[in-house]
Amino acid sequence: MKKILFLSGLLLCNFLFSCKETTPITQKATFSKDTFFRQAKIFFNPDFLRKEIEKLNITEREIVEFCRVIDDAALRSKFASAVFSQKTYNKTPAKEEFWAAIRFNLARFVETVMILKEPQQKVFMDIGSGNGEKLFTALCLGFEKAYGLEYSPESVAESKENLKNFSQEIEITQGDALEIDGNFFQKADFLYMYSPIKDNKLAAKLFKRVLDNMKDGAIFLEVRCVYIDEVRKLTKLNFPNLKSWIAVKKQEGKFYYKNVIDNSYNYTNTDTKEWQEVKPL
Ligand SMILES: C[S@@+](CC[C@H](N)C(=O)[O-])C[C@H]1O[C@@H](n2cnc3c(N)ncnc32)[C@H](O)[C@@H]1O
Repeated sequence: MKKILFLSGLLLCNFLFSCKETTPITQKATFSKDTFFRQAKIFFNPDFLRKEIEKLNITEREIVEFCRVIDDAALRSKFASAVFSQKTYNKTPAKEEFWAAIRFNLARFVETVMILKEPQQKVFMDIGSGNGEKLFTALCLGFEKAYGLEYSPESVAESKENLKNFSQEIEITQGDALEIDGNFFQKADFLYMYSPIKDNKLAAKLFKRVLDNMKDGAIFLEVRCVYIDEVRKLTKLNFPNLKSWIAVKKQEGKFYYKNVIDNSYNYTNTDTKEWQEVKPL
């Protein structure tokens, strides 16, 4: 009962705060910066969160620093999305066979990376990095460096503008993931991809390029691997037919997979699940 009353109180506060935002007389920040960060957990209204960030002049860097020290997936994705919800993304594919810069669900991304990321992994790569949302979020998740590879010159320009405050930590390269020197993929110890290519055969070719070139100990997460049959044929490895989410780890030249979600897209036994070896066909 107490819990219900407490939650209703929080809901009411959030509602009242967001209503306040619609009137011009309340341009003053509701909290000090410290209080804001300390109480950040209760801001479940993303619009309110974003407006308060603006009013308090909280910088993107302060948000990254705050997110890096908390261990809360929901809060991290709320903050990253408060920053990126205002940024545009290029909706025209650069080539007919490529996808446009459609963004993968940020909360899902944060949860999955937090499950998989190992503490020593400091360098992130987004293959087909779009408007740069996941590169920014990678910093929020504790990565020290983030590389983006993007084919569309428009998306490259857009993401560089979106991430101009992080030119030391984030590097974006214009190029074709199917053609770029394979050594490029060795830079990262966590590689991520949201199916950049429409054609299943080409997508599998890219998947194999990443497997061949990623460094030992690295993890590769593809969140829309609907072309696993093609990957099997190309690699002659018996990758499991997972829903579409696949995480692969390379260890001493062998590949291991982990399935973190079940058929209903729920996270399953993530603590206990071990990496399973991918055996030859
Ligand atoms: C589905 S979006 C993913 C955006 C972002 N990674 C995310 O998860 O929110 C795919 C992106 O990959 C880019 N892309 C497609 N084919 C590519 C290729 N061969 N090389 C590099 N980038 C590519 C597209 O231009 C697009 O921006």
